[in-house]
Amino acid sequence: MLAYAILAPNPHNIQPWLIKLNDQYSFDLFVDQQRLLPETDPFARQIHIGQGCFLETLTIAATAYGFKAEIDYFPQGEYSNRVIESLPVARVVLTKSDDVKTDPLFVQLLKRQSNKREYDNSRLNPAQKSQLQALADTTQSSFTLVDSEPDGQYLQRVLTEAMAVESGHKARDLETINMFRFNDQEVQKFRDGFGLEHAGVSGIKKIMLESFFLDREKTQKDPSEFAKQSVDITRSISASTSSFAWITTKGNSRLQQVKAGRDYCRLNLTTAAMGLAQHPMSQVLEEYEDMLDLQQQFKQHFQIKEHHTVQMLVRLGKAEKTVHTPRRLVSSLVLG
Ligand SMILES: Cc1cc2nc3c(=O)[nH]c(=O)nc-3n(C[C@H](O)[C@H](O)[C@H](O)COP(=O)(O)O)c2cc1C
Repeated sequence: MLAYAILAPNPHNIQPWLIKLNDQYSFDLFVDQQRLLPETDPFARQIHIGQGCFLETLTIAATAYGFKAEIDYFPQGEYSNRVIESLPVARVVLTKSDDVKTDPLFVQLLKRQSNKREYDNSRLNPAQKSQLQALADTTQSSFTLVDSEPDGQYLQRVLTEAMAVESGHKARDLETINMFRFNDQEVQKFRDGFGLEHAGVSGIKKIMLESFFLDREKTQKDPSEFAKQSVDITRSISASTSSFAWITTKGNSRLQQVKAGRDYCRLNLTTAAMGLAQHPMSQVLEEYEDMLDLQQQFKQHFQIKEHHTVQMLVRLGKAEKTVHTPRRLVSSLVLG
Protein backbone atom coordinates (compact mmCIF):
# COMPACT_ATOMS: atom_id res chain seq x y z
CA MET A 1 0.00 0.00 0.00
CA LEU A 2 2.89 2.33 0.77
CA ALA A 3 4.31 1.49 -2.65
CA TYR A 4 1.17 3.01 -4.13
CA ALA A 5 1.13 5.94 -1.71
CA ILE A 6 4.63 7.05 -2.75
CA LEU A 7 3.26 7.60 -6.27
CA ALA A 8 1.18 10.53 -5.00
CA PRO A 9 1.60 13.96 -6.56
CA ASN A 10 3.82 16.25 -4.48
CA PRO A 11 5.62 19.56 -4.96
CA HIS A 12 8.76 19.33 -7.13
CA ASN A 13 8.55 15.56 -6.66
CA ILE A 14 10.60 16.04 -3.50
CA GLN A 15 8.68 13.16 -1.80
CA PRO A 16 8.47 14.80 1.65
CA TRP A 17 7.18 11.82 3.58
CA LEU A 18 8.41 9.73 6.51
CA ILE A 19 6.69 6.70 7.96
CA LYS A 20 6.97 5.30 11.47
CA LEU A 21 5.47 1.83 11.59
CA ASN A 22 3.47 1.19 14.77
CA ASP A 23 2.53 -2.38 13.95
CA GLN A 24 1.67 -4.36 10.86
CA TYR A 25 -1.53 -2.38 10.29
CA SER A 26 -0.73 1.07 11.59
CA PHE A 27 1.77 3.83 10.92
CA ASP A 28 2.35 7.50 11.64
CA LEU A 29 3.04 9.88 8.76
CA PHE A 30 5.51 12.73 9.27
CA VAL A 31 6.84 15.52 7.09
CA ASP A 32 10.44 14.73 6.15
CA GLN A 33 12.08 17.93 7.33
CA GLN A 34 15.13 17.23 5.18
CA ARG A 35 12.84 17.53 2.16
CA LEU A 36 11.35 21.00 2.25
CA LEU A 37 11.23 23.82 -0.31
CA PRO A 38 11.86 26.88 1.88
CA GLU A 39 12.36 29.30 -1.03
CA THR A 40 9.25 28.56 -3.10
CA ASP A 41 7.11 27.17 -0.26
CA PRO A 42 8.30 29.19 2.74
CA PHE A 43 5.55 28.05 5.13
CA ALA A 44 5.45 24.44 3.84
CA ARG A 45 1.83 24.78 2.70
CA GLN A 46 2.48 22.80 -0.47
CA ILE A 47 4.45 20.22 1.50
CA HIS A 48 1.31 19.63 3.61
CA ILE A 49 -0.85 19.39 0.50
CA GLY A 50 1.59 16.64 -0.52
CA GLN A 51 0.86 14.89 2.79
CA GLY A 52 -2.84 14.88 1.90
CA CYS A 53 -2.08 13.48 -1.56
CA PHE A 54 -0.14 10.65 0.10
CA LEU A 55 -3.01 9.85 2.51
CA GLU A 56 -5.60 9.89 -0.26
CA THR A 57 -3.52 7.63 -2.49
CA LEU A 58 -2.94 5.23 0.38
CA THR A 59 -6.64 5.20 1.30
CA ILE A 60 -7.61 4.33 -2.25
CA ALA A 61 -4.91 1.65 -2.52
CA ALA A 62 -6.05 0.11 0.77
CA THR A 63 -9.53 -0.54 -0.64
CA ALA A 64 -8.04 -2.74 -3.34
CA TYR A 65 -6.63 -5.00 -0.60
CA GLY A 66 -9.93 -5.03 1.32
CA PHE A 67 -8.76 -2.55 3.96
CA LYS A 68 -10.33 0.61 5.27
CA ALA A 69 -7.80 3.28 6.20
CA GLU A 70 -8.85 5.19 9.29
CA ILE A 71 -7.04 8.47 9.55
CA ASP A 72 -6.54 10.37 12.78
CA TYR A 73 -5.12 13.76 11.76
CA PHE A 74 -2.43 15.36 13.90
CA PRO A 75 -2.92 12.82 16.72
CA GLN A 76 -0.43 14.63 18.96
CA GLY A 77 -1.80 18.09 18.17
CA GLU A 78 -1.99 20.31 15.14
CA TYR A 79 0.82 22.83 14.80
CA SER A 80 0.57 26.33 13.36
CA ASN A 81 0.72 26.93 9.62
CA ARG A 82 3.90 28.94 10.10
CA VAL A 83 6.04 26.14 11.53
CA ILE A 84 6.63 22.42 11.20
CA GLU A 85 6.94 20.55 14.44
CA SER A 86 8.25 17.00 14.71
CA LEU A 87 4.73 15.72 15.30
CA PRO A 88 2.84 13.27 13.12
CA VAL A 89 0.56 14.64 10.42
CA ALA A 90 -1.62 11.55 10.72
CA ARG A 91 -1.95 8.17 12.34
CA VAL A 92 -3.26 5.62 9.87
CA VAL A 93 -4.88 2.39 11.02
CA LEU A 94 -5.81 -0.20 8.42
CA THR A 95 -8.76 -2.43 9.19
CA LYS A 96 -9.72 -5.41 7.08
CA SER A 97 -13.41 -5.49 6.27
CA ASP A 98 -15.64 -7.50 3.95
CA ASP A 99 -17.67 -4.35 3.27
CA VAL A 100 -14.80 -2.54 1.57
CA LYS A 101 -15.16 -2.20 -2.19
CA THR A 102 -12.27 -1.22 -4.41
CA ASP A 103 -12.41 2.52 -5.06
CA PRO A 104 -13.03 3.03 -8.80
CA LEU A 105 -10.12 5.50 -8.82
CA PHE A 106 -7.70 2.71 -7.81
CA VAL A 107 -6.96 1.89 -11.46
CA GLN A 108 -5.87 5.50 -11.98
CA LEU A 109 -3.10 5.38 -9.34
CA LEU A 110 -0.59 4.05 -11.87
CA LYS A 111 -1.88 6.29 -14.68
CA ARG A 112 -2.30 9.68 -13.03
CA GLN A 113 0.33 12.29 -13.74
CA SER A 114 1.02 16.00 -13.88
CA ASN A 115 1.14 16.67 -17.59
CA LYS A 116 3.47 19.61 -18.31
CA ARG A 117 3.18 19.51 -22.10
CA GLU A 118 1.53 22.10 -24.32
CA TYR A 119 -2.21 21.41 -24.64
CA ASP A 120 -4.44 22.05 -27.63
CA ASN A 121 -6.68 24.81 -26.25
CA SER A 122 -9.64 22.44 -26.18
CA ARG A 123 -12.36 23.15 -23.66
CA LEU A 124 -14.15 20.69 -21.43
CA ASN A 125 -17.61 19.67 -22.61
CA PRO A 126 -20.63 20.33 -20.34
CA ALA A 127 -20.71 16.72 -19.10
CA GLN A 128 -17.04 16.85 -18.13
CA LYS A 129 -17.57 20.16 -16.37
CA SER A 130 -20.47 18.85 -14.30
CA GLN A 131 -18.52 15.73 -13.42
CA LEU A 132 -15.72 17.88 -12.01
CA GLN A 133 -18.06 20.38 -10.35
CA ALA A 134 -19.75 17.45 -8.59
CA LEU A 135 -16.46 16.63 -6.87
CA ALA A 136 -16.80 19.76 -4.78
CA ASP A 137 -19.92 18.35 -3.09
CA THR A 138 -17.96 15.45 -1.71
CA THR A 139 -15.02 17.43 -0.39
CA GLN A 140 -14.14 20.09 2.17
CA SER A 141 -12.78 22.46 -0.43
CA SER A 142 -14.55 24.51 -3.05
CA PHE A 143 -13.74 24.04 -6.67
CA THR A 144 -13.82 26.70 -9.42
CA LEU A 145 -13.48 26.06 -13.12
CA VAL A 146 -13.03 28.88 -15.63
CA ASP A 147 -12.86 28.63 -19.40
CA SER A 148 -14.15 31.88 -20.88
CA GLU A 149 -11.84 33.61 -23.33
CA PRO A 150 -11.20 36.67 -21.13
CA ASP A 151 -10.55 34.53 -18.04
CA GLY A 152 -8.20 32.33 -20.04
CA GLN A 153 -6.29 35.32 -21.37
CA TYR A 154 -6.08 36.85 -17.91
CA LEU A 155 -4.68 33.64 -16.43
CA GLN A 156 -2.24 33.11 -19.28
CA ARG A 157 -0.80 36.55 -18.51
CA VAL A 158 -0.84 36.25 -14.71
CA LEU A 159 0.67 32.76 -14.61
CA THR A 160 3.49 33.84 -16.91
CA GLU A 161 4.07 36.96 -14.84
CA ALA A 162 4.10 34.82 -11.69
CA MET A 163 6.81 32.61 -13.16
CA ALA A 164 8.80 35.75 -14.02
CA VAL A 165 8.50 36.93 -10.39
CA GLU A 166 9.47 33.50 -9.06
CA SER A 167 12.44 33.06 -11.33
CA GLY A 168 13.75 36.59 -10.93
CA HIS A 169 15.36 35.44 -7.69
CA LYS A 170 18.51 33.34 -7.58
CA ALA A 171 17.81 31.33 -4.40
CA ARG A 172 14.40 30.28 -5.73
CA ASP A 173 15.89 29.32 -9.10
CA LEU A 174 18.55 27.27 -7.35
CA GLU A 175 15.90 25.42 -5.35
CA THR A 176 14.15 24.39 -8.56
CA ILE A 177 17.45 23.60 -10.32
CA ASN A 178 18.31 21.40 -7.34
CA MET A 179 15.23 19.28 -8.11
CA PHE A 180 15.70 19.42 -11.89
CA ARG A 181 17.30 16.28 -13.31
CA PHE A 182 19.75 17.17 -16.06
CA ASN A 183 20.06 13.66 -17.54
CA ASP A 184 18.99 10.03 -17.10
CA GLN A 185 21.92 9.32 -14.75
CA GLU A 186 20.62 11.96 -12.35
CA VAL A 187 17.09 10.52 -12.54
CA GLN A 188 18.41 7.06 -11.70
CA LYS A 189 20.68 8.32 -8.94
CA PHE A 190 18.22 10.54 -7.07
CA ARG A 191 14.87 8.97 -8.06
CA ASP A 192 13.10 12.23 -7.24
CA GLY A 193 12.61 15.61 -8.99
CA PHE A 194 11.80 15.88 -12.67
CA GLY A 195 13.59 16.30 -15.99
CA LEU A 196 12.95 17.03 -19.63
CA GLU A 197 11.22 13.74 -20.43
CA HIS A 198 8.71 14.35 -17.64
CA ALA A 199 7.75 17.56 -19.41
CA GLY A 200 7.24 15.65 -22.64
CA VAL A 201 10.60 16.33 -24.31
CA SER A 202 11.90 13.11 -25.83
CA GLY A 203 13.89 11.58 -28.67
CA ILE A 204 16.52 13.54 -30.51
CA LYS A 205 15.44 16.86 -28.97
CA LYS A 206 16.08 15.52 -25.46
CA ILE A 207 19.45 14.09 -26.47
CA MET A 208 20.50 17.37 -28.11
CA LEU A 209 19.38 19.52 -25.17
CA GLU A 210 20.94 17.28 -22.55
CA SER A 211 24.19 16.82 -24.45
CA PHE A 212 24.84 20.36 -25.61
CA PHE A 213 22.80 22.83 -23.61
CA LEU A 214 22.02 21.49 -20.17
CA ASP A 215 24.84 21.54 -17.67
CA ARG A 216 24.26 21.48 -13.90
CA GLU A 217 27.44 23.27 -12.91
CA LYS A 218 27.03 26.09 -15.43
CA THR A 219 23.31 26.47 -14.65
CA GLN A 220 23.92 26.64 -10.91
CA LYS A 221 26.61 29.27 -11.38
CA ASP A 222 24.35 31.41 -13.54
CA PRO A 223 20.67 30.41 -13.48
CA SER A 224 19.56 33.33 -15.68
CA GLU A 225 19.09 31.22 -18.84
CA PHE A 226 17.22 28.52 -16.88
CA ALA A 227 15.00 31.27 -15.45
CA LYS A 228 14.33 32.76 -18.88
CA GLN A 229 13.46 29.32 -20.27
CA SER A 230 11.04 28.73 -17.37
CA VAL A 231 9.18 31.94 -18.23
CA ASP A 232 9.14 31.16 -21.97
CA ILE A 233 7.83 27.64 -21.33
CA THR A 234 5.19 28.96 -18.93
CA ARG A 235 4.06 31.47 -21.54
CA SER A 236 3.65 28.83 -24.24
CA ILE A 237 2.00 26.14 -22.09
CA SER A 238 -0.41 28.71 -20.63
CA ALA A 239 -1.24 30.00 -24.10
CA SER A 240 -2.04 26.43 -25.16
CA THR A 241 -4.66 26.12 -22.39
CA SER A 242 -8.26 27.35 -22.26
CA SER A 243 -9.52 25.71 -19.06
CA PHE A 244 -8.18 26.40 -15.60
CA ALA A 245 -9.42 25.31 -12.19
CA TRP A 246 -8.61 25.91 -8.56
CA ILE A 247 -9.31 24.52 -5.12
CA THR A 248 -10.04 26.98 -2.33
CA THR A 249 -10.37 26.52 1.41
CA LYS A 250 -12.01 28.92 3.86
CA GLY A 251 -9.12 28.78 6.27
CA ASN A 252 -5.51 27.75 5.89
CA SER A 253 -4.79 25.54 8.88
CA ARG A 254 -2.49 22.57 8.57
CA LEU A 255 -5.54 20.30 8.65
CA GLN A 256 -7.19 22.24 5.84
CA GLN A 257 -4.00 22.03 3.78
CA VAL A 258 -3.81 18.26 4.25
CA LYS A 259 -7.49 17.81 3.39
CA ALA A 260 -7.10 20.07 0.34
CA GLY A 261 -4.30 17.71 -0.71
CA ARG A 262 -6.69 14.76 -0.51
CA ASP A 263 -9.21 16.69 -2.62
CA TYR A 264 -6.55 17.69 -5.11
CA CYS A 265 -5.42 14.09 -5.46
CA ARG A 266 -8.99 12.96 -6.19
CA LEU A 267 -9.31 15.73 -8.76
CA ASN A 268 -6.11 14.57 -10.45
CA LEU A 269 -7.27 10.94 -10.44
CA THR A 270 -10.71 11.89 -11.71
CA THR A 271 -9.35 13.94 -14.60
CA ALA A 272 -7.06 11.01 -15.41
CA ALA A 273 -10.12 8.73 -15.54
CA MET A 274 -11.78 11.25 -17.88
CA GLY A 275 -8.79 11.23 -20.22
CA LEU A 276 -7.91 14.84 -19.42
CA ALA A 277 -4.44 16.24 -18.92
CA GLN A 278 -3.87 18.27 -15.78
CA HIS A 279 -1.00 20.41 -14.57
CA PRO A 280 -0.63 22.42 -11.33
CA MET A 281 0.79 25.92 -11.71
CA SER A 282 1.53 27.11 -8.20
CA GLN A 283 3.69 30.19 -8.56
CA VAL A 284 0.95 32.80 -8.14
CA LEU A 285 -0.24 31.03 -4.97
CA GLU A 286 3.14 31.09 -3.27
CA GLU A 287 3.72 33.09 -0.10
CA TYR A 288 7.06 34.86 -0.44
CA GLU A 289 6.85 38.63 -0.17
CA ASP A 290 7.35 39.63 -3.81
CA MET A 291 4.48 37.37 -5.02
CA LEU A 292 1.84 38.80 -2.71
CA ASP A 293 0.85 41.78 -4.91
CA LEU A 294 0.19 39.63 -7.95
CA GLN A 295 -1.59 37.05 -5.80
CA GLN A 296 -3.88 39.73 -4.42
CA GLN A 297 -4.66 40.98 -7.95
CA PHE A 298 -5.49 37.42 -9.04
CA LYS A 299 -7.81 36.92 -6.06
CA GLN A 300 -9.52 40.26 -6.59
CA HIS A 301 -9.99 39.58 -10.29
CA PHE A 302 -11.89 36.39 -9.54
CA GLN A 303 -13.60 37.80 -6.44
CA ILE A 304 -11.97 35.26 -4.16
CA LYS A 305 -12.41 36.38 -0.55
CA GLU A 306 -9.23 37.83 0.89
CA HIS A 307 -9.14 35.43 3.85
CA HIS A 308 -9.77 32.35 1.69
CA THR A 309 -6.76 30.41 0.43
CA VAL A 310 -6.39 29.07 -3.07
CA GLN A 311 -4.54 25.86 -2.34
CA MET A 312 -4.08 24.48 -5.88
CA LEU A 313 -4.44 26.00 -9.32
CA VAL A 314 -4.27 23.78 -12.40
CA ARG A 315 -4.67 23.92 -16.12
CA LEU A 316 -6.75 21.28 -17.86
CA GLY A 317 -6.88 20.07 -21.43
CA LYS A 318 -5.81 17.42 -23.88
CA ALA A 319 -2.26 16.22 -24.42
CA GLU A 320 -0.33 13.04 -24.99
CA LYS A 321 0.92 11.38 -21.83
CA THR A 322 4.50 11.83 -20.71
CA VAL A 323 6.98 9.49 -19.04
CA HIS A 324 6.15 9.13 -15.32
CA THR A 325 8.31 10.91 -12.77
CA PRO A 326 10.57 8.65 -10.67
CA ARG A 327 10.13 7.63 -7.05
CA ARG A 328 12.57 6.50 -4.38
CA LEU A 329 12.34 3.08 -2.73
CA VAL A 330 9.53 2.79 -0.21
CA SER A 331 12.13 1.64 2.34
CA SER A 332 13.73 5.11 2.19
CA LEU A 333 10.53 6.52 3.71
CA VAL A 334 10.39 4.13 6.63
CA LEU A 335 12.05 5.25 9.87
CA GLY A 336 14.14 2.94 12.03
C1 LIG B 1 1.25 21.08 -3.89
C2 LIG B 1 1.73 20.83 -5.29
C3 LIG B 1 2.19 21.90 -6.06
C4 LIG B 1 2.64 21.68 -7.37
N1 LIG B 1 3.05 22.75 -8.13
C5 LIG B 1 3.51 22.54 -9.38
C6 LIG B 1 3.94 23.64 -10.18
O1 LIG B 1 3.88 24.80 -9.78
N2 LIG B 1 4.41 23.37 -11.42
C7 LIG B 1 4.49 22.10 -11.90
O2 LIG B 1 4.96 21.91 -13.03
N3 LIG B 1 4.07 21.04 -11.17
C8 LIG B 1 3.59 21.25 -9.92
N4 LIG B 1 3.16 20.18 -9.18
C9 LIG B 1 3.21 18.82 -9.75
C10 LIG B 1 4.45 18.09 -9.26
O3 LIG B 1 5.60 18.61 -9.91
C11 LIG B 1 4.27 16.61 -9.54
O4 LIG B 1 3.20 16.12 -8.75
C12 LIG B 1 5.52 15.81 -9.18
O5 LIG B 1 6.60 16.19 -9.99
C13 LIG B 1 5.28 14.31 -9.37
O6 LIG B 1 4.91 14.06 -10.70
P1 LIG B 1 3.51 13.38 -11.06
O7 LIG B 1 2.41 14.21 -10.47
O8 LIG B 1 3.48 13.38 -12.56
O9 LIG B 1 3.53 12.01 -10.46
C14 LIG B 1 2.66 20.37 -7.89
C15 LIG B 1 2.16 19.30 -7.12
C16 LIG B 1 1.69 19.52 -5.83
C17 LIG B 1 1.14 18.37 -5.04
